[in-house]
Amino acid sequence: MPILAHTTSSETNIVSLRISQQIVYLKDITGSLGNELSGKRIALCVTASVSITEAPRIARLLMRHGAEVITVLTPKACEFVSPMIFEWSTGNPPVTKLTGKVEHVELVSPLSSKRADLILIAPCTANTLGKISSGISDEPVSTLVCTALGTKIPILIASAMHEPMIKNPIVQQAKEKLERSGVKFIEGSLTESKSKLADPEEIAQAVIAVIGKLNSDIKKEGNAKSTSKPEVFKGQKSLAGVNLIITAGPTREPIDQVRFITNPSTGKMGIALVEEAIAKGAKRVTLIQGPGVVIPDIFKSTDGRLEVKPVVTTQEMQDSVLSTLSKKGEYNVLISAGAPADYTSRSYVAGKINTSTKPSLKLELVATKKIIKIAKEKFPDTFVVAFKAEHGLKNQNELSFKALEALKSSGADLVVGNDVGRTDIGFGSDFNEVIVVSKNGKVRDLPKARKNEIASKILDIISEELSNSPRAFRHKEL
Ligand SMILES: Cc1cc2nc3c(=O)[nH]c(=O)nc-3n(C[C@H](O)[C@H](O)[C@H](O)COP(=O)(O)O)c2cc1C
Repeated sequence: MPILAHTTSSETNIVSLRISQQIVYLKDITGSLGNELSGKRIALCVTASVSITEAPRIARLLMRHGAEVITVLTPKACEFVSPMIFEWSTGNPPVTKLTGKVEHVELVSPLSSKRADLILIAPCTANTLGKISSGISDEPVSTLVCTALGTKIPILIASAMHEPMIKNPIVQQAKEKLERSGVKFIEGSLTESKSKLADPEEIAQAVIAVIGKLNSDIKKEGNAKSTSKPEVFKGQKSLAGVNLIITAGPTREPIDQVRFITNPSTGKMGIALVEEAIAKGAKRVTLIQGPGVVIPDIFKSTDGRLEVKPVVTTQEMQDSVLSTLSKKGEYNVLISAGAPADYTSRSYVAGKINTSTKPSLKLELVATKKIIKIAKEKFPDTFVVAFKAEHGLKNQNELSFKALEALKSSGADLVVGNDVGRTDIGFGSDFNEVIVVSKNGKVRDLPKARKNEIASKILDIISEELSNSPRAFRHKEL
């Protein structure tokens, strides 16, 4: 500290005493919520995300669970927030530069008394993710993590960034590369077009799940949550072990060989559900897609967890759903986000109907079968989610009423209702606004948001419903 450079040795002792008194004072919260992390040192690496404001809270929460916290900051992070805040939060001087003490080695070396038991990067920027996945170490955080990756010290990352950044295939590849090296990610939610930092409480629980004592003496104070059974990486891996079938897009009912009956569905909602299910750790996703659905490039790096089955007609979509479900015990959830054509022509003309010989054409249409109803009847153990498109409704109340009706008539476990009469959401749009009704009577209103955000929330609801039903335990055993 520069102040010491100008003091005599007796003044130095007084300053040290003041500092140590201050340290004791700053650390007096240690263990106030429990002792799961007592005796554990955590290196909290902080990078230049706007979520940096949460980092002092995370540090204090870890201390409240008994940990000693040493913060390590990137130079950019020091521009965002004064390192003084971290000295105050933890009672320990933050590492903002690498010096002759080789702090990055001091924090990981088995010979060092300051060795960390766990390294947590929260918040982690796309920049730092990219650097550490490529072995770049040019400032304290990347150098510490690159050194720690060569040891057995657990590394947890809670990232925060804008939606396009997290969806950048290079950022995704960096995450996957780090996961393969044993790094674990604690994901927050996708909200307001941002991949938000996980809640500090969830981050603390993830740390406890990795290095905490499970049967510890937990003190419940204020509104602190009970931590007796920490759930690992609750947010992101909420679909771990779950196999899903997701239908997407329209189907076509042929009139002749070049003309067909269809609808304006583009499959964007189904694709968003596939993307979010993979991100939430689904074991396998089978996408049954109608014609014209665009599959993003990002799906190429799903490690074989995604299977795509193209279909054309409603009958083909039904056959594909049923044959996939018949792989007994393999699929837990069917999400019917596709929009199969509701009518098919009773007659089909081979070749092309000629308009000069047939200036007017009468078609007899018959309703197609309801895929969900048949699937639920044949596979009652499968958790079935139906999408119900309504048109021109007066208000959301009417929509929830229609969705509840559909819940009863279809036999589905969950119905997602939306108004396709609105031009700002639904068919072809990147946005949606839905009502989710479930068998237990809960009605949830998901306000207008990007389809990926809506998809993420629907999957969270599915995960919650699975956990609350005895069937869910069977899912987890798979
Ligand atoms: C106000 C502001 C907020 C930012 N928030 C984020 C963020 O949440 N996530 C992210 O990846 N980058 C964010 N950035 C960009 C990073 O600060 C930038 O990439 C920086 O180089 C990261 O440095 P670091 O990883 O070394 O800390 C933000 C930039 C600014 C100016």
